[in-house]
Amino acid sequence: MKKILDLISDEMKNAFEQAGYARELGKVTLSNRPDLCEYQCNGAMAGAKQYKKAPIMIANDVAAKLSDSKVFEAAEAVAPGFLNLTLQPEFVGGYIRNMRADKKYGLEETKNPAKIVIDYGGPNVAKPLHVGHLRSAIIGESVKRITRYMGHNVVGDIHLGDWGQPMGLIMNELKARKPELVYFDEDYTGEYPSEPPFTIAELEEIYPFASRRSKEDEAYKEDAMACTYKLQSGVRGYRALWDHIIAVSVADLKKNYEKLNVDFDLWNGESAVHDRIPQMVEAMKAGGYAYVSEGALVVDVKEDTDTKEVPPCMILKSDGAALYNTTDLATIMMRMEIERPDRILYVVDKRQELYFEQVFRCARKTKLVREDTELKFLGFGTMNGKDGKPFKTREGGVMRLENLIREINDEMFHKIKESRETTDEEAAVTAQVVGLAALKYGDLSNQASKDYIFDIDRFTSSEGDTGPYILYTIVRIKSILAKYMENGGDVQAVQNEIKAPVSDSEKQLMLALAKYNASVEAACEEYAPHKICAYIYDLANAFNHFYHETKILAEEDEAKKAGWIALLVLTRDVLETSIDLLGFSAPERM
Ligand code: ARG
Repeated sequence: MKKILDLISDEMKNAFEQAGYARELGKVTLSNRPDLCEYQCNGAMAGAKQYKKAPIMIANDVAAKLSDSKVFEAAEAVAPGFLNLTLQPEFVGGYIRNMRADKKYGLEETKNPAKIVIDYGGPNVAKPLHVGHLRSAIIGESVKRITRYMGHNVVGDIHLGDWGQPMGLIMNELKARKPELVYFDEDYTGEYPSEPPFTIAELEEIYPFASRRSKEDEAYKEDAMACTYKLQSGVRGYRALWDHIIAVSVADLKKNYEKLNVDFDLWNGESAVHDRIPQMVEAMKAGGYAYVSEGALVVDVKEDTDTKEVPPCMILKSDGAALYNTTDLATIMMRMEIERPDRILYVVDKRQELYFEQVFRCARKTKLVREDTELKFLGFGTMNGKDGKPFKTREGGVMRLENLIREINDEMFHKIKESRETTDEEAAVTAQVVGLAALKYGDLSNQASKDYIFDIDRFTSSEGDTGPYILYTIVRIKSILAKYMENGGDVQAVQNEIKAPVSDSEKQLMLALAKYNASVEAACEEYAPHKICAYIYDLANAFNHFYHETKILAEEDEAKKAGWIALLVLTRDVLETSIDLLGFSAPERM
């Protein structure tokens, strides 16, 4: 469906043309003065010079052509030459009826579907998820859903950190604690046990311990590096042990992401490209791109136009070991072979921006990607505490994701128990659904690249620009619809009965609804879930205003009531579709 703003602009452009002026002047925008009109056109001012006429004269000419417009109820020329516009109720009602009849509420899918790989999540095996990983998961999941909904062919890849130095640290520490494990016996030729020799809790305790110790103890660190080397060079026992680490860790990660309503199509890790690295390195050397500098293999990536220093991209360390960017480059190579994407998006902490700039330049220079492959870094800001510093636990440590989610859910649980009679079980289930909305909306309603303050009180509040407010609105609509059914109404049967608005608040609700296609399209183009948040916040406000001004169920004119019920159903459907694009859902009751 055409966007409502385009339809309105078309009407205005025709009027400019009929009055003898250039069509382009008829561009319409939202009104700056919603107290005076709904939309406005400033074309007469823009045309004054060209036509050597006072703007108000042009505006009057145009307004005259609109006197019996089916789009504008009023098109008023006001000094010094604005056109103040108010829409015909029937035009607005008709647009909303068409929206109802359309499968995606008036949204047209993209005409150029692209194959897109989204690299997000990026957790590290055996390290607990922390809040830094939260943003990547929340934003990446929403961008994936939005781009997919717009008709792109999208693949989400978690890009597990499963291959570097942390793996060596864990294995080395395991060896110190349990040297008798068969995995460390290099003469062993039999089968390895199928049960892992540790639990997830042990693994998560081992990594920080080993990491701390390696910073204080050089010999210990070297042993760990030797373990990494053994793993990467394929020593059997180390590979078998690593398989256990991955299995235990991935099972735990899946559980955590499931709670977040986040899911990945691919669970590839850095390790997946290990075998491709030699081939990639050879190609980079053969192409004359990579050279040895102070023992390391590097590719220059600086450009003449750089205003900041862009260091060379290091491909192999002097001991021949691969680095973080080696696996990233080899991953690009693998993706180009398997998924053949037109675009790869990286949803990563913005502090890695320069790093990705190097990787992208290197990938282009060494022709790992096609010329028209787009590599895009979507950097997000830091989640801060109320003190404006990166979010910490009360004890000052890094907050684990699980604990953060628990805190939000506890807070929601208390709020629910305070607000109404309910069993603990029911309140706990609702708290989970609403808590997730509070967390995700709190994050997504900010422009992703900005830092934001994590504020449990505000995020869980049922008033203001919050997830719970949106859910309350949806639940309110559901409860009105349920009552209508209880009184013998048939929600399904009246779905298409939307009429022209009879009150201002009803018209405003319709105008808010009508922005759906434009909002989702902009959110997709700019990878900006916050645009969907802004849209649903406006829509929820418009609905609640309408609701307070209108006695819906008490209306005696059944046809009128049916029209409102239909409008409610559409509002609910649009809100629920929108929150699904953000990655959360609404409960039946709150
Ligand atoms: N594992 C990394 C970290 O925790 C994030 C991975 C981001 N993605 C990538 N392709 N490098 O910082």
